Amino acid sequence: MGSEHRRRGARDERSAEERRDHGADHRVRRRSSPPLRVSSAGQDADSTGKRIVLGVSGGIAAYKACELLRRLRSLGHDVTVVPTAAALTFVGSATFEALSGNPVSGDVFTDVPDVRHVSVGQRADLVIVAPATADLLARAAAGLADDLLTATLLVTRAPVLMAPAMHSEMWSHPATVANVRTLRSRGVTVLPPAVGRLTGADSGPGRMAEPEHLAQLAQLVLHPTVAHRPALPFDLDGRRIVVSAGGTREALDPVRFLGNRSSGRQGYAIALVAAARGADVTLIAANTSLADPPAVEVRRVVSAADLQRAVKDAARQADAVVMTAAVADFRPAEVAEHKIKKVADSEPAVLELVQNPDVLAGLVADRGASRMPVIAGFAAETGDATTSPIEFGLQKLARKGCDLLVVNQVGHTGGFESDDNAAVILSSGAILSSGAPDSTEMAAVEVPFGPKTALAAAVCDSIVTALNAAKATGTGQSSDNLSTPKTHVRQANPQGASP
Ligand SMILES: Cc1cc2nc3c(=O)[nH]c(=O)nc-3n(C[C@H](O)[C@H](O)[C@H](O)COP(=O)(O)O)c2cc1C
Repeated sequence: MGSEHRRRGARDERSAEERRDHGADHRVRRRSSPPLRVSSAGQDADSTGKRIVLGVSGGIAAYKACELLRRLRSLGHDVTVVPTAAALTFVGSATFEALSGNPVSGDVFTDVPDVRHVSVGQRADLVIVAPATADLLARAAAGLADDLLTATLLVTRAPVLMAPAMHSEMWSHPATVANVRTLRSRGVTVLPPAVGRLTGADSGPGRMAEPEHLAQLAQLVLHPTVAHRPALPFDLDGRRIVVSAGGTREALDPVRFLGNRSSGRQGYAIALVAAARGADVTLIAANTSLADPPAVEVRRVVSAADLQRAVKDAARQADAVVMTAAVADFRPAEVAEHKIKKVADSEPAVLELVQNPDVLAGLVADRGASRMPVIAGFAAETGDATTSPIEFGLQKLARKGCDLLVVNQVGHTGGFESDDNAAVILSSGAILSSGAPDSTEMAAVEVPFGPKTALAAAVCDSIVTALNAAKATGTGQSSDNLSTPKTHVRQANPQGASP
């Protein structure tokens, strides 16, 4: 099975190479009608049916591993559960066996002819440890192999995702801090735990990330469209990122509002991925009903005016601001104090609207000549008979003066209320040439159809590039001279090379 896995790896590399070559053919430098076509990768067969090892160590949160297992199975993956001995005192092997459909053992002396202490790790496409106890983190960091899970962690060359769960004192102890640092330095993704209720009456940082978030990150790590390996580098450590998400509501009267269909999923995916990559994330959430991503501070708002205030306030401390929220362009000129009544046999009142402030433009204006914070906007474009959605996006990027613009082509599958999305990320020239900004250039990265976390990862990549460029120059940019862009187009690399 190990050689089969290696053969599969070689095939993946070859096809990645072919896709890279194909991407190079798209490279252009031109202003009008960029020959961009967002490739519809669809549900690539490679993103399902993977072999996942689910390591479970002995904490209260072991019960949550059952829900994670159920989710991974329903995504089509083959899951082998490898519990520690302590984990089996919290959840029995019968539960793991029934939910996974695979035999469960945690010691290296069961099924010896299968050499499971080696074969389980070799066969894995992904290893998730959830929950990861303080003890498990210590044993993994020390390179111990005293049970099947730690042996598997030593053998595997697949990506490893760990979701710690423990009391806050254990999490903040210098020994655990050092172990986490060691594991991260080896490329292991150790997620920050969520803040909240712990065992007993205590609360604080130490709750395991929710199974739905772990399943989303697993899909990202396994997805062939992520632009690089590792899919979750720890490259936003110490960065403060503000993300807005959801759709604003503009009150008409005490019970009615003008709203939109944005669920907030894309913004939440960016918050989740940025936090997993080490960022300190503040999420400004407008009317969402999604679970808070782990270790993300969520501030709730309702209207465009609320959102603008909250974003402005958070942006003061931020390294980057990502405006994913669908902010209403207009609001009713007046909000009725009482519910507007239907009057029999009379025409309904005409609704007068006034324009809302442009939050993105306001952020750019507040930033002035500084390159910080990096500002990213989202735009939904349809194009028209003469202008492509991307060209509208390029014009908008130049007009707004932000650093990045993520252009969704409205009408494509995905987008609102979906778990998948496709987009093109446009970057201003100031980011491209960190030495002497060439403001007449712009770059476009196609992110093919895939999970919103994959687009989130590509947005994080662009933010890292922009932050590095801002650091290198420390100069400002003017939106006035961004009006005649040239465009480099490339495809988000399916595997391998960094962007
Ligand atoms: C009720 C109970 C809850 C526990 N919860 C946790 C926990 O959430 N995180 C943790 O690191 N240890 C927790 N422990 C301690 C671990 O079970 C103990 O360190 C054990 O040796 C871990 O073994 P393992 O890492 O091999 O699974 C708990 C122990 C008990 C009795």
